[in-house]
Amino acid sequence: MEKANLKTENLKKEVIKIFRNHGLSNPHAVISANALINAELVGAYGHGLSRLKMYCDRISKRVINPKPRIKIKKISQSISHIDADNSIGFVSADIAIKKAIQNAKKTGIGLVAVKNSGHYGLSGYYAEQAVKENLITMIYTNAPPAVAPHGALKSLFGTNPICFGTPTGFNVPFILDTSISMINRGKIRVAARNNQKIPEGVALDKFGKPTIDAKKALEGVQLPIAGFRGSGLAWMVDILSGVLTGGNHAGRVKDPFDDFSGPQNIGHLFITFKTNLFVRNYNTRIKDNIKRIKRLPKIKGVKEIMYPGQNKYKRFKMNSKKQIKISNIIKKDLEFLKNNYAFK
Ligand SMILES: NC(=O)c1ccc[n+]([C@@H]2O[C@H](COP(=O)([O-])OP(=O)(O)OC[C@H]3O[C@@H](n4cnc5c(N)ncnc54)[C@H](O)[C@@H]3O)[C@@H](O)[C@H]2O)c1
Repeated sequence: MEKANLKTENLKKEVIKIFRNHGLSNPHAVISANALINAELVGAYGHGLSRLKMYCDRISKRVINPKPRIKIKKISQSISHIDADNSIGFVSADIAIKKAIQNAKKTGIGLVAVKNSGHYGLSGYYAEQAVKENLITMIYTNAPPAVAPHGALKSLFGTNPICFGTPTGFNVPFILDTSISMINRGKIRVAARNNQKIPEGVALDKFGKPTIDAKKALEGVQLPIAGFRGSGLAWMVDILSGVLTGGNHAGRVKDPFDDFSGPQNIGHLFITFKTNLFVRNYNTRIKDNIKRIKRLPKIKGVKEIMYPGQNKYKRFKMNSKKQIKISNIIKKDLEFLKNNYAFK
Protein backbone atom coordinates (compact mmCIF):
# COMPACT_ATOMS: atom_id res chain seq x y z
CA MET A 1 0.00 0.00 0.00
CA GLU A 2 1.37 3.41 -0.95
CA LYS A 3 1.71 5.82 1.93
CA ALA A 4 1.75 9.60 2.09
CA ASN A 5 3.11 11.70 4.94
CA LEU A 6 1.61 14.73 6.58
CA LYS A 7 2.76 16.40 9.78
CA THR A 8 0.51 15.36 12.68
CA GLU A 9 -0.37 18.88 13.77
CA ASN A 10 -1.29 19.94 10.24
CA LEU A 11 -3.29 16.80 9.84
CA LYS A 12 -5.17 17.51 13.06
CA LYS A 13 -5.90 21.08 11.92
CA GLU A 14 -7.22 19.71 8.65
CA VAL A 15 -9.54 17.28 10.46
CA ILE A 16 -10.77 20.03 12.81
CA LYS A 17 -11.57 22.20 9.80
CA ILE A 18 -13.46 19.37 8.12
CA PHE A 19 -15.56 18.75 11.22
CA ARG A 20 -16.24 22.49 11.62
CA ASN A 21 -17.28 22.76 8.00
CA HIS A 22 -19.72 19.97 8.70
CA GLY A 23 -21.33 22.05 11.42
CA LEU A 24 -19.54 20.95 14.62
CA SER A 25 -18.65 23.72 17.06
CA ASN A 26 -14.92 24.37 17.42
CA PRO A 27 -14.65 22.60 20.84
CA HIS A 28 -16.54 19.57 19.51
CA ALA A 29 -14.41 19.49 16.35
CA VAL A 30 -11.25 19.59 18.48
CA ILE A 31 -12.45 16.77 20.77
CA SER A 32 -13.33 14.63 17.74
CA ALA A 33 -10.11 15.34 15.85
CA ASN A 34 -8.00 14.59 18.95
CA ALA A 35 -9.72 11.21 19.35
CA LEU A 36 -9.17 10.28 15.70
CA ILE A 37 -5.52 11.32 15.73
CA ASN A 38 -4.96 9.43 19.00
CA ALA A 39 -6.36 6.27 17.37
CA GLU A 40 -3.81 6.67 14.56
CA LEU A 41 -0.98 7.19 17.07
CA VAL A 42 -1.81 4.07 19.09
CA GLY A 43 -2.05 2.09 15.87
CA ALA A 44 -5.83 1.51 16.06
CA TYR A 45 -6.25 2.40 12.39
CA GLY A 46 -9.73 0.87 12.20
CA HIS A 47 -10.93 3.60 14.58
CA GLY A 48 -8.88 6.45 13.15
CA LEU A 49 -9.04 8.51 9.98
CA SER A 50 -10.55 5.61 8.06
CA ARG A 51 -13.81 6.57 9.82
CA LEU A 52 -13.71 10.33 9.17
CA LYS A 53 -15.82 10.18 6.02
CA MET A 54 -18.39 7.99 7.77
CA TYR A 55 -18.82 10.56 10.58
CA CYS A 56 -19.12 13.39 8.04
CA ASP A 57 -21.64 11.43 5.97
CA ARG A 58 -23.72 10.83 9.08
CA ILE A 59 -23.58 14.53 10.04
CA SER A 60 -24.55 15.54 6.50
CA LYS A 61 -27.52 13.19 6.61
CA ARG A 62 -28.44 14.54 10.05
CA VAL A 63 -28.22 11.17 11.79
CA ILE A 64 -25.41 12.66 13.89
CA ASN A 65 -26.58 15.95 15.38
CA PRO A 66 -23.82 18.55 14.81
CA LYS A 67 -25.32 20.93 17.39
CA PRO A 68 -26.55 18.64 20.18
CA ARG A 69 -28.20 19.90 23.35
CA ILE A 70 -26.59 17.44 25.73
CA LYS A 71 -28.43 17.08 29.02
CA ILE A 72 -26.74 15.88 32.21
CA LYS A 73 -29.21 14.69 34.83
CA LYS A 74 -27.88 14.46 38.38
CA ILE A 75 -29.26 11.37 40.07
CA SER A 76 -27.01 11.63 43.15
CA GLN A 77 -23.57 13.05 43.98
CA SER A 78 -22.10 9.88 42.40
CA ILE A 79 -24.55 9.08 39.63
CA SER A 80 -25.35 11.01 36.43
CA HIS A 81 -27.42 10.21 33.37
CA ILE A 82 -26.54 11.89 30.09
CA ASP A 83 -28.86 12.30 27.11
CA ALA A 84 -26.39 13.00 24.31
CA ASP A 85 -29.03 14.18 21.80
CA ASN A 86 -27.37 12.12 19.04
CA SER A 87 -24.07 13.97 19.27
CA ILE A 88 -20.96 12.53 17.70
CA GLY A 89 -19.87 9.82 20.18
CA PHE A 90 -16.50 11.44 20.97
CA VAL A 91 -18.18 14.46 22.51
CA SER A 92 -20.68 12.59 24.70
CA ALA A 93 -17.95 10.21 25.88
CA ASP A 94 -15.64 13.12 26.69
CA ILE A 95 -18.35 14.83 28.75
CA ALA A 96 -19.27 11.53 30.43
CA ILE A 97 -15.77 10.53 31.54
CA LYS A 98 -15.12 14.04 32.89
CA LYS A 99 -18.40 13.84 34.86
CA ALA A 100 -17.51 10.34 36.14
CA ILE A 101 -14.12 11.65 37.30
CA GLN A 102 -15.71 14.62 39.03
CA ASN A 103 -18.27 12.39 40.79
CA ALA A 104 -15.62 9.91 41.96
CA LYS A 105 -13.45 12.69 43.33
CA LYS A 106 -16.39 13.95 45.39
CA THR A 107 -17.74 10.66 46.73
CA GLY A 108 -15.24 7.90 45.94
CA ILE A 109 -17.24 6.46 43.06
CA GLY A 110 -18.73 7.84 39.85
CA LEU A 111 -21.31 6.11 37.69
CA VAL A 112 -22.34 7.79 34.46
CA ALA A 113 -24.75 6.34 31.92
CA VAL A 114 -25.12 7.80 28.42
CA LYS A 115 -27.96 7.31 25.93
CA ASN A 116 -28.57 8.71 22.42
CA SER A 117 -24.86 8.63 21.62
CA GLY A 118 -22.85 7.34 18.68
CA HIS A 119 -19.63 5.46 17.99
CA TYR A 120 -16.93 6.95 20.26
CA GLY A 121 -13.82 5.11 19.05
CA LEU A 122 -11.49 3.60 21.65
CA SER A 123 -12.71 2.99 25.21
CA GLY A 124 -9.10 3.09 26.40
CA TYR A 125 -8.78 6.72 25.31
CA TYR A 126 -11.37 7.71 27.94
CA ALA A 127 -9.99 5.27 30.51
CA GLU A 128 -6.63 7.05 30.27
CA GLN A 129 -8.27 10.30 31.43
CA ALA A 130 -9.57 8.63 34.61
CA VAL A 131 -6.32 6.79 35.32
CA LYS A 132 -4.37 10.05 35.01
CA GLU A 133 -6.55 11.29 37.87
CA ASN A 134 -5.49 8.25 39.93
CA LEU A 135 -8.84 6.48 39.53
CA ILE A 136 -9.75 2.94 38.55
CA THR A 137 -12.25 2.80 35.71
CA MET A 138 -14.52 0.37 33.88
CA ILE A 139 -16.08 1.42 30.59
CA TYR A 140 -18.63 -0.30 28.36
CA THR A 141 -20.25 0.57 25.04
CA ASN A 142 -22.41 -1.38 22.66
CA ALA A 143 -22.01 -1.37 18.90
CA PRO A 144 -23.90 -2.49 15.75
CA PRO A 145 -24.54 -6.21 15.13
CA ALA A 146 -21.38 -8.09 14.13
CA VAL A 147 -21.20 -11.17 16.35
CA ALA A 148 -23.72 -14.02 16.53
CA PRO A 149 -24.86 -14.92 20.06
CA HIS A 150 -23.73 -18.45 20.92
CA GLY A 151 -26.07 -20.86 19.16
CA ALA A 152 -27.65 -18.20 16.88
CA LEU A 153 -27.41 -18.08 13.08
CA LYS A 154 -27.46 -14.29 12.89
CA SER A 155 -25.28 -11.43 14.20
CA LEU A 156 -26.81 -9.39 16.96
CA PHE A 157 -24.12 -8.33 19.44
CA GLY A 158 -21.64 -5.65 18.55
CA THR A 159 -17.94 -6.15 19.08
CA ASN A 160 -18.85 -4.53 22.45
CA PRO A 161 -15.46 -3.65 23.99
CA ILE A 162 -14.72 -4.25 27.66
CA CYS A 163 -12.35 -1.77 29.24
CA PHE A 164 -10.68 -1.71 32.64
CA GLY A 165 -8.01 0.80 33.61
CA THR A 166 -5.96 1.35 36.73
CA PRO A 167 -2.93 3.35 37.81
CA THR A 168 0.04 1.05 38.29
CA GLY A 169 2.52 3.08 40.27
CA PHE A 170 4.67 2.97 37.12
CA ASN A 171 4.59 5.48 34.24
CA VAL A 172 2.50 3.19 32.06
CA PRO A 173 -1.14 2.62 33.09
CA PHE A 174 -2.77 -0.81 33.00
CA ILE A 175 -5.50 -0.53 30.37
CA LEU A 176 -7.26 -3.68 29.28
CA ASP A 177 -9.36 -2.60 26.33
CA THR A 178 -10.61 -5.47 24.25
CA SER A 179 -13.39 -6.25 21.81
CA ILE A 180 -15.27 -9.44 22.55
CA SER A 181 -14.78 -10.52 18.93
CA MET A 182 -11.67 -12.34 17.70
CA ILE A 183 -10.64 -9.13 15.91
CA ASN A 184 -12.32 -5.75 15.89
CA ARG A 185 -14.63 -4.82 13.02
CA GLY A 186 -12.62 -1.72 12.17
CA LYS A 187 -9.66 -3.94 11.21
CA ILE A 188 -11.90 -5.98 8.91
CA ARG A 189 -13.24 -2.81 7.28
CA VAL A 190 -9.71 -1.51 6.68
CA ALA A 191 -8.73 -4.92 5.19
CA ALA A 192 -11.83 -4.84 2.95
CA ARG A 193 -11.00 -1.34 1.69
CA ASN A 194 -7.39 -2.33 0.99
CA ASN A 195 -8.23 -5.73 -0.54
CA GLN A 196 -6.31 -7.52 2.20
CA LYS A 197 -7.06 -10.91 3.74
CA ILE A 198 -8.07 -11.35 7.38
CA PRO A 199 -6.66 -14.06 9.69
CA GLU A 200 -8.23 -17.52 9.79
CA GLY A 201 -10.73 -18.32 12.53
CA VAL A 202 -12.13 -14.83 13.08
CA ALA A 203 -15.21 -14.80 10.85
CA LEU A 204 -17.75 -16.82 8.87
CA ASP A 205 -19.31 -15.82 5.52
CA LYS A 206 -23.06 -15.37 5.13
CA PHE A 207 -23.44 -19.12 4.55
CA GLY A 208 -21.73 -19.91 7.87
CA LYS A 209 -18.45 -21.06 6.26
CA PRO A 210 -15.08 -19.89 7.64
CA THR A 211 -13.60 -17.10 5.51
CA ILE A 212 -10.44 -15.01 5.24
CA ASP A 213 -12.06 -12.67 2.70
CA ALA A 214 -12.70 -9.36 4.52
CA LYS A 215 -15.69 -8.41 2.33
CA LYS A 216 -17.34 -11.78 2.85
CA ALA A 217 -16.68 -11.51 6.58
CA LEU A 218 -18.49 -8.17 6.68
CA GLU A 219 -21.52 -9.82 5.04
CA GLY A 220 -21.32 -12.78 7.40
CA VAL A 221 -20.66 -12.98 11.14
CA GLN A 222 -17.64 -12.34 13.32
CA LEU A 223 -16.73 -14.95 15.90
CA PRO A 224 -16.61 -14.07 19.60
CA ILE A 225 -13.54 -14.73 21.73
CA ALA A 226 -13.69 -18.06 23.56
CA GLY A 227 -17.03 -19.31 22.19
CA PHE A 228 -19.98 -19.07 24.58
CA ARG A 229 -17.86 -17.22 27.15
CA GLY A 230 -17.24 -14.35 24.72
CA SER A 231 -20.86 -14.41 23.69
CA GLY A 232 -21.82 -14.05 27.37
CA LEU A 233 -19.46 -11.11 27.82
CA ALA A 234 -20.92 -9.40 24.73
CA TRP A 235 -24.38 -9.89 26.19
CA MET A 236 -23.27 -8.41 29.52
CA VAL A 237 -21.95 -5.30 27.72
CA ASP A 238 -25.22 -4.97 25.78
CA ILE A 239 -27.16 -5.04 29.07
CA LEU A 240 -24.86 -2.58 30.89
CA SER A 241 -24.50 -0.09 28.06
CA GLY A 242 -27.84 -0.56 26.29
CA VAL A 243 -30.61 -1.94 28.52
CA LEU A 244 -29.47 -0.07 31.65
CA THR A 245 -28.77 3.34 30.07
CA GLY A 246 -31.83 3.80 27.83
CA GLY A 247 -29.74 3.26 24.70
CA ASN A 248 -30.53 0.88 21.87
CA HIS A 249 -29.86 -2.80 22.57
CA ALA A 250 -30.62 -6.33 21.34
CA GLY A 251 -29.28 -5.65 17.84
CA ARG A 252 -31.05 -2.30 17.27
CA VAL A 253 -27.88 -0.16 17.04
CA LYS A 254 -27.59 0.92 13.41
CA ASP A 255 -24.45 0.25 11.41
CA PRO A 256 -22.74 3.65 11.06
CA PHE A 257 -21.43 2.92 7.56
CA ASP A 258 -24.48 1.34 5.95
CA ASP A 259 -27.59 2.48 7.75
CA PHE A 260 -28.54 6.14 7.57
CA SER A 261 -32.20 5.59 8.44
CA GLY A 262 -31.74 7.22 11.86
CA PRO A 263 -29.31 7.91 14.70
CA GLN A 264 -27.51 5.01 16.35
CA ASN A 265 -28.65 5.68 19.93
CA ILE A 266 -25.65 3.85 21.31
CA GLY A 267 -25.35 3.59 25.09
CA HIS A 268 -22.20 3.83 27.18
CA LEU A 269 -21.48 3.22 30.86
CA PHE A 270 -18.56 4.82 32.70
CA ILE A 271 -17.61 3.66 36.21
CA THR A 272 -14.78 5.36 38.10
CA PHE A 273 -13.57 4.88 41.66
CA LYS A 274 -10.73 5.80 43.99
CA THR A 275 -7.92 3.33 44.56
CA ASN A 276 -7.83 3.89 48.34
CA LEU A 277 -11.40 2.84 49.15
CA PHE A 278 -10.36 -0.35 50.95
CA VAL A 279 -6.55 -0.18 51.34
CA ARG A 280 -4.19 2.74 51.91
CA ASN A 281 -1.27 1.36 49.96
CA TYR A 282 -2.86 0.50 46.60
CA ASN A 283 0.15 1.73 44.62
CA THR A 284 2.55 -0.47 46.57
CA ARG A 285 0.22 -3.43 46.26
CA ILE A 286 -0.34 -3.11 42.53
CA LYS A 287 3.38 -2.60 41.88
CA ASP A 288 4.02 -5.81 43.83
CA ASN A 289 1.29 -7.58 41.83
CA ILE A 290 2.76 -6.54 38.48
CA LYS A 291 6.37 -7.24 39.49
CA ARG A 292 5.53 -10.78 40.65
CA ILE A 293 3.80 -11.54 37.36
CA LYS A 294 6.57 -10.02 35.26
CA ARG A 295 9.20 -12.10 37.10
CA LEU A 296 7.59 -15.42 36.05
CA PRO A 297 9.66 -17.69 33.81
CA LYS A 298 8.86 -16.90 30.16
CA ILE A 299 8.06 -19.21 27.29
CA LYS A 300 10.58 -19.35 24.45
CA GLY A 301 10.68 -16.22 22.29
CA VAL A 302 8.98 -13.96 24.88
CA LYS A 303 11.29 -11.19 26.13
CA GLU A 304 8.86 -9.54 28.52
CA ILE A 305 5.50 -10.39 30.06
CA MET A 306 3.52 -7.26 29.31
CA TYR A 307 0.44 -6.00 31.06
CA PRO A 308 -2.49 -4.69 29.00
CA GLY A 309 -1.86 -1.17 27.74
CA GLN A 310 1.93 -1.46 27.64
CA ASN A 311 2.00 -2.25 23.93
CA LYS A 312 -0.27 0.67 23.04
CA TYR A 313 1.75 3.03 25.22
CA LYS A 314 4.94 2.00 23.44
CA ARG A 315 3.31 2.46 20.02
CA PHE A 316 1.97 5.88 21.03
CA LYS A 317 5.43 7.05 22.18
CA MET A 318 7.09 5.75 19.05
CA ASN A 319 4.46 7.07 16.63
CA SER A 320 4.29 10.48 18.31
CA LYS A 321 7.89 11.14 17.25
CA LYS A 322 7.07 10.42 13.61
CA GLN A 323 4.67 11.84 11.09
CA ILE A 324 1.43 9.94 10.71
CA LYS A 325 1.40 7.88 7.55
CA ILE A 326 -1.88 7.97 5.72
CA SER A 327 -2.92 5.67 2.92
CA ASN A 328 -3.91 7.02 -0.48
CA ILE A 329 -7.52 6.01 0.23
CA ILE A 330 -7.58 8.25 3.32
CA LYS A 331 -5.81 11.02 1.42
CA LYS A 332 -8.61 10.83 -1.13
CA ASP A 333 -11.24 10.98 1.65
CA LEU A 334 -9.56 14.10 3.06
CA GLU A 335 -9.49 15.80 -0.35
CA PHE A 336 -13.12 14.87 -0.96
CA LEU A 337 -14.29 16.09 2.44
CA LYS A 338 -12.39 19.36 2.12
CA ASN A 339 -13.82 20.15 -1.28
CA ASN A 340 -17.29 18.65 -1.51
CA TYR A 341 -18.87 18.36 1.86
CA ALA A 342 -18.46 21.78 3.37
CA PHE A 343 -21.70 23.33 4.59
CA LYS A 344 -22.77 25.16 7.71
N1 LIG B 1 -16.51 1.91 19.99
C1 LIG B 1 -16.73 0.71 19.53
O1 LIG B 1 -17.82 0.38 19.10
C2 LIG B 1 -15.62 -0.30 19.54
C3 LIG B 1 -15.89 -1.62 19.21
C4 LIG B 1 -14.86 -2.54 19.26
C5 LIG B 1 -13.57 -2.14 19.60
N2 LIG B 1 -13.34 -0.85 19.90
C6 LIG B 1 -12.00 -0.40 20.28
O2 LIG B 1 -11.05 -0.97 19.42
C7 LIG B 1 -9.80 -1.05 20.09
C8 LIG B 1 -9.06 -2.29 19.71
O3 LIG B 1 -9.72 -3.43 20.22
P1 LIG B 1 -9.04 -4.85 20.03
O4 LIG B 1 -9.90 -5.88 20.61
O5 LIG B 1 -8.58 -4.99 18.61
O6 LIG B 1 -7.74 -4.69 20.93
P2 LIG B 1 -6.36 -5.50 20.87
O7 LIG B 1 -6.64 -6.91 20.46
O8 LIG B 1 -5.39 -4.73 20.08
O9 LIG B 1 -5.91 -5.49 22.39
C9 LIG B 1 -6.74 -6.03 23.41
C10 LIG B 1 -6.06 -5.83 24.76
O10 LIG B 1 -4.97 -6.73 24.88
C11 LIG B 1 -3.79 -6.05 25.26
N3 LIG B 1 -2.64 -6.72 24.66
C12 LIG B 1 -2.34 -6.81 23.34
N4 LIG B 1 -1.20 -7.51 23.18
C13 LIG B 1 -0.78 -7.87 24.41
C14 LIG B 1 0.34 -8.62 24.90
N5 LIG B 1 1.25 -9.12 24.09
N6 LIG B 1 0.46 -8.80 26.24
C15 LIG B 1 -0.48 -8.29 27.07
N7 LIG B 1 -1.56 -7.58 26.67
C16 LIG B 1 -1.71 -7.38 25.35
C17 LIG B 1 -3.98 -4.64 24.75
O11 LIG B 1 -3.21 -3.73 25.50
C18 LIG B 1 -5.47 -4.45 24.97
O12 LIG B 1 -5.74 -4.02 26.26
C19 LIG B 1 -10.12 -0.88 21.57
O13 LIG B 1 -9.60 0.36 21.97
C20 LIG B 1 -11.63 -0.89 21.65
O14 LIG B 1 -12.17 -0.02 22.65
C21 LIG B 1 -14.34 0.08 19.87
